Amino acid sequence: MLRLAGVVTYYGPIQILKSLDLEVRQGEIVCLLGGNASGKSTTMKTILGIVRPRQGTVEFEGQRIDGLPTEAIVSRGISLVPEARRIFGRMTVWENLTMGAYTRRREAPAELQQDLDRVYGLFPRLRERADQKGGTLSGGEQQMLAVARALMLRPRLLLLDEPSLGLAPLVVREIFRIVRAINKEAGVSVLLVEQNASMALRLADHAYLMETGTMVMSGPAADLARNDAVRRAYLGY
Ligand SMILES: Nc1ncnc2c1ncn2[C@@H]1O[C@H](COP(=O)(O)OP(=O)(O)OP(=O)(O)O)[C@@H](O)[C@H]1O
Ligand SMILES: [Mg+2]
Repeated sequence: MLRLAGVVTYYGPIQILKSLDLEVRQGEIVCLLGGNASGKSTTMKTILGIVRPRQGTVEFEGQRIDGLPTEAIVSRGISLVPEARRIFGRMTVWENLTMGAYTRRREAPAELQQDLDRVYGLFPRLRERADQKGGTLSGGEQQMLAVARALMLRPRLLLLDEPSLGLAPLVVREIFRIVRAINKEAGVSVLLVEQNASMALRLADHAYLMETGTMVMSGPAADLARNDAVRRAYLGY
């Protein structure tokens, strides 16, 4: 479904991604592990065309998307829940969600309502708080709003950049449960960047380990969870 091959990305003169390869198959949850500054968020931004690869290709559903504007990539069915959940703090929950559907504004209001109902079904708390300003939600509620907003685009591939950052374990479990439901019930493929490696490896089908801009390991998530080097560096036992 998604394939990065030989991707090289720079910020100014500094090379961040060094011939990166990555694949997400239809229906899979793939997790991307790696230390701070290894280039995980840059990988997400490269997929979405927020930064441009200098070399290499990004293909989505068999077609090249590198070089396309971000809106065009999003409207093909990829949406991103960015690091640090950039919701609109001064807008209400409802406004955040309807903004999330902006690429489809020509559609009938009934469809918008259907999508709202669907995400409210996944996140009942957001329905209760529809008129509350995004900035006044708790951290966990803001993360739910960020995921819900991304789902309003009806993505076929959801990119999640550290959804558990700064959240209490119970909320993290809730968010992982919802990600699993979105994947299993709606068939949305997921690329997940996570520091919480043990939970991510339990959720994912396939995993990649990245260091300083390149993949150093990949395989079934269960295999990486058993790997000694991964355990020492990321699982802490
Ligand atoms: N806009 C930018 N301009 C210049 N350098 C950048 C920019 N964004 C990121 N970098 C640098 O690129 C490198 C990789 O950053 P990136 O955000 O991809 O790491 P990451 O793996 O997501 O790390 P973390 O786990 O801390 O979020 C870092 O050294 C960072 O300082
Ligand atoms: Mg990051």
